Amino acid sequence: MKICDKIEDVRKQVKEWKKEGLTIGFVPTMGYLHEGHRSLMEAARKENDKVVVSIFVNPMQFGPTEDLDSYPRDLDKDAVLCEGVGVDLIFHPEPQEMYPEGFCSYVDMNGLTTELCGKTRPTHFRGVQTVVLKLFHIVTPDNAYFGQKDAQQLAVIRRMVKDLSLDVTIHGCPIVREEDGLAKSSRNTYLNEKERKAALILSQSLAVGKELIASGETDASRIKQAIADKIATEPLARIDYVDVVDFDTITPVDTISGSTLVAIAVYIGKTRLIDNFIL
Ligand code: PAJ
Repeated sequence: MKICDKIEDVRKQVKEWKKEGLTIGFVPTMGYLHEGHRSLMEAARKENDKVVVSIFVNPMQFGPTEDLDSYPRDLDKDAVLCEGVGVDLIFHPEPQEMYPEGFCSYVDMNGLTTELCGKTRPTHFRGVQTVVLKLFHIVTPDNAYFGQKDAQQLAVIRRMVKDLSLDVTIHGCPIVREEDGLAKSSRNTYLNEKERKAALILSQSLAVGKELIASGETDASRIKQAIADKIATEPLARIDYVDVVDFDTITPVDTISGSTLVAIAVYIGKTRLIDNFIL
């Protein structure tokens, strides 16, 4: 397995593979890898000749008061996990390699990014889109893998690929959870013991929503209320949002029909966690 920190080195390797007619699967990450990331790599490993993983804590997608500096990093441990899955190349650039002096070009979107996480993180998706487009240009993958854990991000990337006619197939992969139901996340490391227990309220409240829907409820406001009421039973939890939106357009729906995303963001202490399910 190669580890490259320069764009040119990745380009050189990818060109050689392409000359041989090999397909490339790509998993973009911010590192501190866990089983959620691993599931994307395994999907990429199964479906492609070569697998590239990027590990880059992207400053552009963090707001000024967010956790860029404290975001966990451990390249050595990440490399062991990647090696174990059979990854062929890790791209691990420094910020100045991705954003050289004078950088001023961005990718942005008018729809899809105003609701859910876009409300409290207004510049987040611009940062995600810009870095992902750059990474796509560097790696030129045939297939790229994203988790449904970040469902809005997945919808945004799908839209960007369609709108900008990018020659890559996007694969959405299911949420990987801890045994007790908490969705795996690099940010779970911020939680102390009490908060870790309290964080179960995310998956538990979504279960309440799911049950209600299974019992025949289609009214989005009643489903949102039931989820919010459940979250309110946990004293350490503070709701950022509970929303029901169309999964393709990320616009609110009144009634559940078709492909619907039920998504929540909840602060547990100072840590903001997200979770969701798709109907
Ligand atoms: P990061 O949070 O590291 O996540 C990388 C990929 O792993 C994303 O596609 C995310 O949805 C997926 N993932 C995270 N936790 C998961 C889980 N529990 N189950 C399944 N998939 C999971 O998302 C980013 O990085 C960045 O925004 C990035 C796309 C790399 C751009 O900087």
